[in-house]
This record gives sequence, C-alpha cells and structure tokens, in this order.
Amino acid sequence: MSETSPQLIRLADYRPPEFLIDAVELCFELDPEHTEVSARLSIRRNPAVGQANGSLRLAGEGLELLALALDGQPLPPDAYRLDEQGLTLWQVPERFRLDSRVAIHPARNTALEGLYQSKDILCTQCEAEGFRRISFFLDRPDVLARYRTTLIADRKRFPVLLANGNPIERAELPDGRHRVTWEDPFPKPCYLFALVAGDLECVEDRFVTASEREVRLQIYVEPQKGERCAHAMQSLKQAMRWDEVRFGREYDLDVFMIVAVSHFNMGAMENKGLNLFNDRYVLASPQTATDEDFAHIAAIVAHEYFHNWTGNRITCRDWFQLSLKEGLTVYREQEFAAGLFSPSVQRIRDVRFLRAQQFPEDAGPLAHPVRPDSYLEINNFYTATVYEKGAELIRMQATLLGPESFRRGMDLYFARHDGQAVTIEDFVRCMEEASGRDLGQFRRWYEQAGTPELSIWGGYDPTAQTYTLHVRQFIPPTPGQLVKHPLHLPLAIGLLGEDGRELPVWLAGEPEPPAAGTRVLEVTESEQHFVFVGLDARPVPSLLRGFSAPVKLKDDLTESDRLFLLAHDPDGFGRWEAGQGLMQDLLLRLVADPKASLPAEFIEAFRHALRAKADPALIAEVLTPPSEEELGEQMAVIDVEGIHRAHRLFGTELGRHLREDWIAVYRDNAEADPSVLTPEAVGRRALNNLALAYLMRAGNPEGLELCRMQFGKGRNLTDVLAALRLLVERGGDDAEAALAEFYRRWSHEPLVIDKWFAVQATAPHRETLVRVVTLLHHPAYDPGNPNRVRSLIGAFAAHNPICFHAADGAGYCLLADQVLQLEPLNPQLAARLLKPLIRWRRFDPQRQALMRAELVRISKQGARSPDVFELVSKACS
Ligand code: ARG
Ligand code: ZN
Repeated sequence: MSETSPQLIRLADYRPPEFLIDAVELCFELDPEHTEVSARLSIRRNPAVGQANGSLRLAGEGLELLALALDGQPLPPDAYRLDEQGLTLWQVPERFRLDSRVAIHPARNTALEGLYQSKDILCTQCEAEGFRRISFFLDRPDVLARYRTTLIADRKRFPVLLANGNPIERAELPDGRHRVTWEDPFPKPCYLFALVAGDLECVEDRFVTASEREVRLQIYVEPQKGERCAHAMQSLKQAMRWDEVRFGREYDLDVFMIVAVSHFNMGAMENKGLNLFNDRYVLASPQTATDEDFAHIAAIVAHEYFHNWTGNRITCRDWFQLSLKEGLTVYREQEFAAGLFSPSVQRIRDVRFLRAQQFPEDAGPLAHPVRPDSYLEINNFYTATVYEKGAELIRMQATLLGPESFRRGMDLYFARHDGQAVTIEDFVRCMEEASGRDLGQFRRWYEQAGTPELSIWGGYDPTAQTYTLHVRQFIPPTPGQLVKHPLHLPLAIGLLGEDGRELPVWLAGEPEPPAAGTRVLEVTESEQHFVFVGLDARPVPSLLRGFSAPVKLKDDLTESDRLFLLAHDPDGFGRWEAGQGLMQDLLLRLVADPKASLPAEFIEAFRHALRAKADPALIAEVLTPPSEEELGEQMAVIDVEGIHRAHRLFGTELGRHLREDWIAVYRDNAEADPSVLTPEAVGRRALNNLALAYLMRAGNPEGLELCRMQFGKGRNLTDVLAALRLLVERGGDDAEAALAEFYRRWSHEPLVIDKWFAVQATAPHRETLVRVVTLLHHPAYDPGNPNRVRSLIGAFAAHNPICFHAADGAGYCLLADQVLQLEPLNPQLAARLLKPLIRWRRFDPQRQALMRAELVRISKQGARSPDVFELVSKACS
C-alpha cells in the first residue's frame, strides 16, 4: 500500500518484456510467523526486444531481502536499488542466474494475497499480482517459466505439502521437518503458481482420459470434512468428460488437486494442477448446503477445471486481456451447467444475473469495456463486465458462426496458441479464419462500454401479407466514451401464428421459406428493418430468443401479445421473458400508483402457467418476478420505497388470488425426498418454496403452519433455510425462536452460520440495521473471514435495498464505517463491499447527498489502497 496516488496502467503502453525467465527453482522454509523463500531464476534478454539500458526491474512487495547473488556472486548494495514496489539491478548480462532469498510473514497477511494463513493451513493466492509478495519476479502474465518447488515444513503441523505439477522427491529431515519437491512441466505465468501446507484430509478418486491416461483426482479439506466432497468430486469428473466431448480437451498432468480453505477473497483459483477454493464452493451435504449451493459448486469446479485450457495452457498477454480467459471460461461453465439441469432454466438464471449485476455496472461510473483501456488496480476489474458480459460476447460469436464453425474456431485457437500468452484479438482472429466471417464490426463489443438499447417495432401489411420489424440500436455514453458506434449483433427471433404454432421466418427476396422456427437475424446498422413474407395474418414475434445479445430490449408488444407468448411460446426462455415483461410493467404501474390492481387476465395467465405440465424449476422461474434491483434499473430515479412496496403488494396479491393453487402445488410437491438432488427433486423444492413464499406473503394462516412445519423437519437445508427466511421476514416470536434454534443446531458449521447472518442482514425490517450492528459484536462474527464479512455487511448493503437505503442514511454510514475498518486489513474485500455506494447518482437528491457524503468521508479517512482509491475517485468524479 502506498501513500502516493497509484499509477494508471494503460493498454496502449503495453511493451513485451525485456527479459524472459526460463526456469524457476523455489525453496520455501515454511512457518506461519517467518517463512524464507529462496528463488533461483534463469533469466535472459528477450531476443524479440531491442536493447534497452541494461537494467532489470523486478516486482516485489513486502519482502525482506536476505541475500542476492548474480551467477553465484553476492551483489554489493550499489549494484541494485530496493524500493516499496520492487528491485532494480543496474547492470545485468545477456543471460544469467539470479538467486534471491527473502523473508515473509504469512500469519500477518490479512490481505489474503500472496502466501497467507487460513486457520492452520498455509496457502497462496497469486492472481493477479500476488506472486510479488512471495518473491522478486517479473510478475506479468506474458513471462512463462518452468517451476520446480521445494517445500520444507514441520512434519506434524504440516503433514501435507503441495505445489503445482507432479511430486518428484520427498525426504524426512532430522529436525522434525520434512521436504517435498514438485515439478510442473508446463511453462506458466507466476499468477498460476500455488502451494499449500497443512494438516488436510484427502478424498481421492480417478479419471481415465479419452486417450486412456489415468489421472489421480484429489480434494483436500480440513480434517473431518471429507464426507462433504462427494458432489465436488462428481462435478469434477463430469467437467473433465464434458470438456473432452464438447471441445476435445483432455487433462494433461498425472494428478489434479483441489484444496478448500475457509479464508478466500474470491470463489476459487485455477492454479496449474492445484486449484484453490473458497470452501463454500467445495463442501456440501443436503443438511449443510442448499440446492443453489450444489449448483454453484458444480459450476465453479467446472469453471476452474476448464481454465486448464482456457487460461493456463493459453494465457493472457496482459491483464487487459482478462476476459480472454474469464469470459471464455464463464461461457464454457454456463454451457456445461446447461447440460446438468435444464438449458432454459440455466439461461434464465444467467440472464437474471447479467441484468441484476452487469447492467447496473455498465450504466454507472465504473462502466468499462470488456477489454478495459486502463486501470489503477487490476483487482477491481474482476467484474461482471469482464466475466459475464465477456461470456455473452463469446456466446454471440458462437451464435453468429453456428456450432460447427465455432468449434473449428476453438480448435484453431487451441492448436495455434497452446503454450502462449495471447490477446482477445488473437481469439477473434481464430474465429474469423475458421469461419471465413468478418468480425471487424463485432470487435467493437470489446472496446465499447455500455448496454445497447435495442428498440424493435413491427408492422403488418395485410395486402402484401408482409410483416416488417424495425430495429434501432442506441448505445448510451459511458465515462470516457461519449461517442459510440453501432454494433454487430445476432437477433434470434421466431414468429408465432394465431394458434401458437411456429411459422417460417421468411425474409423478402428469398425464393423458398425456411423451416418453421427460430432464425438469427444480424443487426449491424443503427437503424435497420427486416421484411417477412408469406404471412396471412399478423404474427406474434418472439424476440431476442435465448437472450441472443446482451441488450436492453424495448419492443411494442401489447399486453395481450405477452400473455399469448407466456402461454404459447415454444421456447421456455421466451415464456419466462414474456412473464417477466408482464410483471415488470405491472410492478412499475404499482410503483406509480399503489392503488393499481392486478388485472384478471393476468392472474389467470399465471394460474395457467402454474398449472402447466412443465418442468417445476421452469415454472418457479416464470412465477418469480424481477428483483427490486432489476426494477430499479428501469426507473430514471430509483424509488426505493415505492419498489419495495410494489414488490410486497404484488406478492400478497398473487398469493391471495392463487391461494388454492399454491396450496395444491405445495401438497403435491412436499413429499420429495430431502436427500435427493436430481433435477426433478431440486425443481420441486424450488416450486414448493415459491408456493410457501406466496402463501406467507398473503398472510395465510395455513402458510404459517406449513412454514413452521417445514422449518421443524430440518432435513434439507434448502427447505429449512427457505422457511427460516420467510419466518424472519414475517418477524415476531416465531422468527426469534427459529433463529435461536438454527444457531444452536449449526453453531459448529461456519458455512451454515454464514447463512444465519445473511438471513438476518437481508430481513426487510426497520430494526435490521440495529441488528446488523449488534451482530458485528456477535462472538461468531469475524472481520478476518471474507465469507463472514460478505454474509453480514455484503448481504445487507447489496441485498437489502429497503434497509440499506434507509432515508436517514444510517445504512450508508454503517457501510462506510465497515469499509474504513476493513481497508487496512483487506483492501480487495473492502473495495468490493463498497460498490453499492457507487451508484449514488441513481437515487433521489436526499439519498444522493447522503451517499456522496459517505464516499467523501471514505476518501478523506481512508482510500489509502489503490483498490478503494480507484473506486471512490471514479464514483465522485
Ligand atoms: N481466476 C479466478 C477465477 O477463476 C479468479 C481470481 C480472482 N483474483 C483476484 N485477484 N480478483 O475466476
Ligand atoms: Zn475464472
């Protein structure tokens, strides 16, 4: 952390490295208080780069230098300079060996970057720039080296010693320590380096690859937690097979390891052969994890595994290319997950996430392109834009190219760039070459920030029997990008006849009609129209099927068109989207006029959707309205109270009107076996818990009874937690009793207690703020554990709009206090927590003033880290 204002890093300033490191030999003498790291680097000048002044600059932060030698000769103090950010050697030869020895202090590392301690385990997190906290190095992703790592530690405290690659040597040392050496045959950037030392339980399995190589699979967890790894292990094997079948990618080492730790800033990390995980994304049993947790575990285990090819074998040239690996890997993860349950439900969840997280980001002061142009702190760019919008850009390329060409493009990418550090441009070029398509205009998606607004209106001509769709795109200005150019986007549509049948989407000028069904139109102009022929009546268009482009769609469909689509669109996603449109319009009407009521056709349409013979998970999605955050996005000034009130009213009314149906749904689904995790059982639980929520919101006494019973059964956390949440939302003695009972039952289980904190932090009550403050002093609260901090402060600020935005500003003040306290300990976590304050411009003048005042307070009393400094200064400028 530096006191001077941090350096702006620009993509335009990228230069290839002047030096390369071919081989790295590391030796760690591990101890939580004092670890010594020896590094032997084989360095040479990069032949591709012209001669500079002969000096070498290595990154290094918080390292205590103990020894430094060049080709075996200790370096005199005037041969180098040490500063806060690293080490400069004034004169170095063409090719040489550099030996350094440093001391570091893992137990004092509260930032959880570099080498740190989680309970009794020592572990590392190096992406993006953590390796410089371990050793002096060229800490940039385009320097690829072979690593050999020796770990030495006390045998009793640290019986397990892991690093990347394969173990090649082990020895017992006379002083009670032992030593293990690992070798990773694949050159890698240092952000993929990892080590783990501790007393860990290992769950083992095996996987035989398509070419019949046997791979040992190991999941390491804290003692006694081995039983809860079965789902992660199964997910890993499914992911390994899927990548072989779908993309022809095989695993490449003899062993693949996952380690779960309790203290982790993010979800997980794809270090070569040694993935590190936040334990909430590994450990699961039906009693301690919800169905949603199970789904996240499968997705994240797969995501990190998929990085082995999209990230590790082919990595990023620089951090501006982060989406090269993250967007692509999120896309692969989403496709994998779509195959596990239902593709429609998966797509619905991904779109909900994009709308709730990425759209607001793209509309606020932190808006940035998927490939950013500059940053102060790269950790601030692990965003929904780089990840989820990045995945949408890959998806659009797959849609534009079609599955065969897209697969050929991927094959070319793997073949051409294996072992390299490349750019997004390299990826797009592979897609172009493999398909023969020109993606020149498409590239703008990577450069332009902001969510495009797509307006579509239709006109039917009965005489000509044609239907015309007019399409207009508009990309709003974003910070630093006032002028935007039109984008190239796939617009998937269907046309439905009166009876709900798919019609051929037949473009004027084509000799023959195509087969009936979805067709992908290509939008490239700011204004464009498409004429469809052979239509003897006005069709109902099903627009932007599967959310074929990440845009805000404004169409001219009437309420009856949407009701029709909700009932008839053959596309599950399309039915959901029609329902969302109806609910959104209605909710916004309720915001404007609290006395507005639910139209009868609307209630009937939802009754119909509820009774449909469809996948229960999909029905549950269809009957879940857009979130308060999503609704806020639709308003010029977010009306926090109005939206909350409308949301409640909507729940109460739909609960009341469909009461009999909700009870019937609950009765039909209630007997599902609590330990079963099939898509069917998971879908039933989702629908059941939605029914319970509507019954509770309607204040139905039978609902309360069912809720108490469901909580009391306590055999499945999905059900127990849903009931607990509803009881707490209702408040009163039942709520207090349930919370006390839940705590008693699970006090030994941190991941479950995280949920206990979150349920209280998200309760929409006047008293919640006081309760959150009280919980900060609860013995189980721990500011050193990111999961715990997120479950209390994060949940309150990001998922409790009505309380966080309390009119007196108390919520803002609480968040700012916590950010200021956390920043010196863990700046990355503090910066993430701060985000809800950044959108201050979206609220009314009173709230704007209060939010801004807290941002100013943070910038005066804190913002010493580049992480917090960058966000606060962007928010206030
Ligand atoms: N690469 C990791 C992933 O799988 C995330 C690493 C995040 N690191 C960070 N410093 N923010 O997505
Ligand atoms: Zn990733």
